[in-house]
Amino acid sequence: MTQDSPDRGADRDARQLRQQSDEHVIKCMGDVDMGLVAGDGLKVTDADGKQYIDAISAEWVLNLGFRNPEIKQAINDQLDTIDYVSPVFESEARTELARKLAELAPGELSKVLYGLSGAGAVEGAMHLAMRATGGSDFVCLDAAFHGRTFATIGLTYVNPGMVEGANQGLDRYLPRQMRIPNYNCYRCPLGLERETCDLACAEAIEWELERGHLNGPAGVIVEPFQANGGMVPAPDGYLERAHEISRAHQVPLIVDEVQGALCRCGPMYAVQRTAVEPEMIILGKALGGGLPLSATITTPEYSALLPWEYGFTQAGNPTACAAGLAMIEVMLRDDLPANSEKMGNLLTDGLAEIEKDSKLIGDIRGQGLMVGVELVLDRETKEPAFAETDALMAACLEHGLMIGKTGPVFGSNGNVVKFKPAVNVSEDEIVEMTEIFGRALAEVEATL
Ligand SMILES: Cc1ncc(COP(=O)(O)O)c(C=O)c1O
Repeated sequence: MTQDSPDRGADRDARQLRQQSDEHVIKCMGDVDMGLVAGDGLKVTDADGKQYIDAISAEWVLNLGFRNPEIKQAINDQLDTIDYVSPVFESEARTELARKLAELAPGELSKVLYGLSGAGAVEGAMHLAMRATGGSDFVCLDAAFHGRTFATIGLTYVNPGMVEGANQGLDRYLPRQMRIPNYNCYRCPLGLERETCDLACAEAIEWELERGHLNGPAGVIVEPFQANGGMVPAPDGYLERAHEISRAHQVPLIVDEVQGALCRCGPMYAVQRTAVEPEMIILGKALGGGLPLSATITTPEYSALLPWEYGFTQAGNPTACAAGLAMIEVMLRDDLPANSEKMGNLLTDGLAEIEKDSKLIGDIRGQGLMVGVELVLDRETKEPAFAETDALMAACLEHGLMIGKTGPVFGSNGNVVKFKPAVNVSEDEIVEMTEIFGRALAEVEATL
């Protein structure tokens, strides 16, 4: 079904699509019984013909919304020239994107190792770090999420059910990693208060780098804003302290911006909210303008690989690189870092207004257009509102708003809803999102 024919046997189409999907597609990453068949800007249409406003940029991938005309044009132009170039050859689009990423990056970051997925890029960063340091053990955070491949699952820990499933039978493949207490000022795992804690969670990095490794430390990997771990921003000073400690131990600080980069948290790179110049930044999700592409950007010091130790036939696919480059050019031309900041503030202000009359909102956390709302049954005890979060998600969908859901506390599925709309979102669209969200929340709260 297309947007031009929204009522063509819509209901039958949706059921058929589901049936055939069940017969032939092995679904990964969970299961939502909904077919999406058309998208335009921030609007997406399901197989029943119902339209939604997309507040999560289609799994935080389409940072300029569905079918952005300039990205489409760049893809067409690339297809008119050359569609694929093996990674062993030079390619203009691949080189131009790498040059642009380097030009925009902080500090000495100038070398790009391409991958296909976020987890693939994390593995690339692990290879580079291990070659340069000679170590093999990484420090990672308790609620970190860095992917689901055999290597990255060892760095990932979020939903216990997810980890159980993902780890089952894989012991012989999982790398041993050094896991430290999370940063989370709303639910400090160390029971401390931010005013007096002296960033004890960051100090744990030091302990592990000194005593926690078996085969020598290879690096410290951290998300600047934990997404799957509950939409939790690193507290002020955390990344600075993590960098000081890792530098003192001569291992790289690897900042995983698979979700945070490309104006999601405001600036082009999330770490640019601080003055930290890490040794590596990992990019994925939005990097290919909707096509599969990821990258690790690093310094010359950390750029050596052994021949054939890492690589993918489609790494740095020129068509995906052309799409990514066009996306970045639009972001710069239209000053989307500023739009992300401004619209993010508008969104969090709107949510704060809703919070005033809300029983369930316990905390609102945001940087740019990376925004989480944690739901609790009691603001004192912070008991997570699992069933109510599920009900709120359903009510938002009912009213035509698509939002996301995650931890930091996981029952069946988590107690935090997330907003990560396209970074070219307009004021009117933010108002529409908050208005629907407020209405859906009021409906759920009326049943309490
Ligand atoms: C911070 C972070 N790193 C890595 C990944 C893995 O990316 P992918 O699913 O593309 O492998 C994700 C995915 O959600 C992520 O959020």
